[in-house]
Amino acid sequence: MILVAGSANLDFSVRASHIPAPGETVMGRDFKTFPGGKGANQAVACARADAAATHMLLALGDDAYALPLEASLSGAGVQMHIVRVKEQATGTAFICVSDDAENAITVAPGANLSLAAAHLPPLAGFTHLLLQLEIPVESVTAYAQAARAAGVKVVLNAAPAQRLPTELLALIDVLVVNEGELAVVADFSGSVAQCLARIAVPCVVVTLGHRGCCARLGGEFSFQSAFDITPIDTTGAGDTFCGVLVAALSQGDSLQQALPQALRQASAAGALACTRPGAQSSIPSQAEVSALLATQAVSTEAQNAALRQYCGFDLAQSV
Ligand code: RIB
Repeated sequence: MILVAGSANLDFSVRASHIPAPGETVMGRDFKTFPGGKGANQAVACARADAAATHMLLALGDDAYALPLEASLSGAGVQMHIVRVKEQATGTAFICVSDDAENAITVAPGANLSLAAAHLPPLAGFTHLLLQLEIPVESVTAYAQAARAAGVKVVLNAAPAQRLPTELLALIDVLVVNEGELAVVADFSGSVAQCLARIAVPCVVVTLGHRGCCARLGGEFSFQSAFDITPIDTTGAGDTFCGVLVAALSQGDSLQQALPQALRQASAAGALACTRPGAQSSIPSQAEVSALLATQAVSTEAQNAALRQYCGFDLAQSV
């Protein structure tokens, strides 16, 4: 059983030719609202992977914005532990999606900032706790401490990027970051390999966008090249990767044994999420992920070598 503790936002999304520069106004089109928030997106991805029962701890305002968020989570089969905050609005996010599928996001966290240490439900029965950084970092640290004490594995997606307190870093079993987040957490602007060497977490997974992803488990590295898709909206793709990764890891006897297949499942799900608009609306089912996996072979040695080179690893080092 997996517990996700984190944010839920209603996304106000508009498509435009390009993301406006500071001071610029662009005319957009196709305005829509979508259920989002990094925590809720990851919970939905986890549940749609059909591997383990998924619960989510979240805080919502007492307003109409909360309704589509509850409907999306319950529709995906996520068991919710809701903290209702009367004084704050439900979290919202304002997203511009460009014609080349990139996005720029501003979050108004609202009720999400009310999630506190005391809100964590009892951890009996949970194997994994999945966290992000759209709620107060003090609460994230308290949840990780409780999980460590209960023997529950802690997975942190360090997004949005921020430097992590040493006491939180020490509690993480698996850290998931993109390249920008990796540089912030490592506090270093060198290669992926150099940044990875500076982070004292047993397992670190780095997503590399259209290139694929890379993971370090102890001193061993593994690579997964990206699936070939045409992206239309990358919103929520990283969250899809995280949710599916944890769902797949929860199925393995050990991290070492489960990691390669989990990277493959998460990459396929993240790729599919880029082909559809919105965050939770874009997250694929396990059947869709399996269908994509069936069409694409495991990464070749040449693809892995290209990823190793991009990351700055010594090419002589084996996978
Ligand atoms: O990662 C994508 C998410 O970031 C969006 O759904 C938005 O709500 C912000 O939290």
